[in-house]
Amino acid sequence: MTTDIHTLFDEDAIALRVAALADEIAESKPRNLLVVAVLKGSFIFAADLLRAMHRAGLEPEVEFFHLSSYGAGTEGSENIRILRDVESDVNGRDILLVDDILESGRTLAFARESLLSRDARSVKIAALLDKPERRKAAISADYVGFTCPDKFVVGYGMDMGHAWRQLPYIGYVAPDAAADGKTGE
Ligand code: IMP
Ligand code: MG
Repeated sequence: MTTDIHTLFDEDAIALRVAALADEIAESKPRNLLVVAVLKGSFIFAADLLRAMHRAGLEPEVEFFHLSSYGAGTEGSENIRILRDVESDVNGRDILLVDDILESGRTLAFARESLLSRDARSVKIAALLDKPERRKAAISADYVGFTCPDKFVVGYGMDMGHAWRQLPYIGYVAPDAAADGKTGE
């Protein structure tokens, strides 16, 4: 099978934006910062952002929150499931939630509520991509990499039916190929 993938954001553009986000985050002077990467889709973004944060002078700790919004088709379901929880105590800490895409907002709204209910001092959100037209939950990101056109995107950690996470850039697939591929992680 050959799939046409059109580049939306190339490696250089991503690297520049990630460095700028890290500088913005450092300017907010977080205290006792815990970065919580929402798996799976954020793993490459989180890895690059963490190294950029180090270069910006921050010393965050890192955790992982594996959530699934698996639903039929390309619409996220209302039900978010915790596949693997954060292990560290978040009480009193500044948390930076890192995810690939803020779409309906349900995944990150769930994650934020979950951490606030454990008495995090603050919960901010860094989303690599924002698809504002798709929003269902009342939530916005504090740090956004790029505003994304309303297309199904892959690469740089993001998948279609478990494929394409390895691409070093962000692209979109032809609409017919995107019809039934979302995993919502
Ligand atoms: P939500 O709708 O904001 O809850 O987004 C849920 C998750 O769906 C995102 O974190 C991604 O993992 C996934 N997702 C949403 N749009 C896309 C896309 O265009 N490509 C790949 N994954 C997506
Ligand atoms: Mg995700």
